[in-house]
Amino acid sequence: MSLQAHLESVIRRWLQATQLTVSGGPWVKACQDERFGHFQTNVAMPAGKSLKKNPRILAQELAQWFAADRDLAQVTIAGPGFVNFTFTPDAIARSLAALSADPQLGVAPALTVKKIVLDFSAPNVAKEMHVGHIRSTVQGEALARLLTAQGHTVIRDNHLGDWGTQFGKIILGYRRAGSPPLTVDGAMAEMERLYQETHRACEADPALLEAARLELVKLQQGDADSVALWQKFRALSQAAFDQIYARLGVRFDYTLAESFYNPWLNEVVDDLLAKGIAREDKGAVVVYFDEPELREHPFLIRKSDGASLYATTDLATIRYRVAEFHADALVYVTDGRQQLHFKQLFATARRWGYPQELEHVWFGAITGSDHKPLKTRDGTPVKLRNLLDEAEARAAKILREKRADIDDAKLREIARVIGSGALKYADQAQNRNLDYVFDWDRMLAFDGNTAPYLLNAYVRTRSILRKAPPSAAGATAAAPFLLREPAEQDLARKLLAFGDAVQTAAAEYRSHHVCNYLFELAALFHRFFEHCPVLKADGDELQASRLRLCQLTGDILKRGLWLLGIETVEEM
Ligand code: ARG
Repeated sequence: MSLQAHLESVIRRWLQATQLTVSGGPWVKACQDERFGHFQTNVAMPAGKSLKKNPRILAQELAQWFAADRDLAQVTIAGPGFVNFTFTPDAIARSLAALSADPQLGVAPALTVKKIVLDFSAPNVAKEMHVGHIRSTVQGEALARLLTAQGHTVIRDNHLGDWGTQFGKIILGYRRAGSPPLTVDGAMAEMERLYQETHRACEADPALLEAARLELVKLQQGDADSVALWQKFRALSQAAFDQIYARLGVRFDYTLAESFYNPWLNEVVDDLLAKGIAREDKGAVVVYFDEPELREHPFLIRKSDGASLYATTDLATIRYRVAEFHADALVYVTDGRQQLHFKQLFATARRWGYPQELEHVWFGAITGSDHKPLKTRDGTPVKLRNLLDEAEARAAKILREKRADIDDAKLREIARVIGSGALKYADQAQNRNLDYVFDWDRMLAFDGNTAPYLLNAYVRTRSILRKAPPSAAGATAAAPFLLREPAEQDLARKLLAFGDAVQTAAAEYRSHHVCNYLFELAALFHRFFEHCPVLKADGDELQASRLRLCQLTGDILKRGLWLLGIETVEEM
């Protein structure tokens, strides 16, 4: 059991013994300021509230439960009723040994495990994935891994935007261009071009606009030729998306695109009408809200011409996900500009009878250094594919300057990991609700809160282990941890906090907590490395202990990066 879990279990026994009904937890957190202790609990506060007792007195009672605990060097009461715990170096060493024997590296299942449908990436068909899609794709994948590590069942669903008015124009443009053959590689650019050209032409010529509208009607009515064309565009888009997913190491369990829900849209609107949740308004169907923040924002679910909308599809999707997957939680990873849509959607779903957890995990924009949305020189959005290429090329250049000795193939492989890792990490390193300024030099720097910095720390742990004498290899795995120097103790306690960081990131759907953790871990590792000789340690036992610290640090860096969707390399 980890130090934290040990404290947690005593606290739970105390709560039971005092017959306190305090719900929540976990109650133990690492202390922000180490001067107070290693861990802290505020459980006496809610306990005091429920018993109408002074929390400080309850904190003292709780502290008594630890009086005979020989693993604790100190238990103190602070503030209005915090209890601080400081462990002995021995207890830390034993706990660390348990951690290093734990295949999960201290990541424990959540108290209540859920079935979560995670809706992420979801680009629109016939349009190349651009910089705006990187955040949902990268953060969605990381969340899927973090939530799975917490014991939740995660269903990854790619809700592709494959239905919409743009298809009238694309089909018209394609036909007008003489139905040219399309190949996977060129198709996306071609479809985008056809759409834009036709869109412009329609603006100038009302007859053409009418022709596009008729193409759309034909498609919606199931005309066989139109449907076949639409399916072809969809398949080509899917193939292009899959190339990017493969490069990013992203996968889905389902790709139930918007069109999948078409058969149920009318039924959903009728049901909402019948239940009095939606009402007709000038031929359209609308949901009105009482909530102050939504009062001014009715939710349009059927247009006066009978057409359904993005909103209608999302309502049908909720119904499907709950009925088919028995989901406890529906989580959507999208741009912050969709916040109003999801507030309206969730408020409607509540009234419709869905008590499930509904979560909009939104993120800010990616901007250039001018804080405006990132664009290419000609003003078009940056394509995700080009971004990945450039990340890898830049990483290769930097690496070549550092390492003249490695061959090209190996260099390319390492650069691939560093380049895509840098992109993925920069996307997650800060609180996702903030806009983030895209900066190649910063994300590829070997110093600072970056993927190259963490990969470098990982490589360092592995290279020490490779240099260790063969005789040490066997001893390392089971060596007792000797934590003498402050740098060793600090590193040890950080290693013990990995599970905590994963738990917080998963509970809040914010992977930057893991980034922060890994960044601090790497910094403590470098400090340990400077202060504590490993290969030249004083005696075999100390050497084995330090090698084992290196091993465990490397394992946690690797696992942590993996949870963020980032691969590792063994040298760089
Ligand atoms: N296709 C949408 C877009 O590109 C995102 C879809 C998100 N998922 C959902 N169920 N609405 O903005």
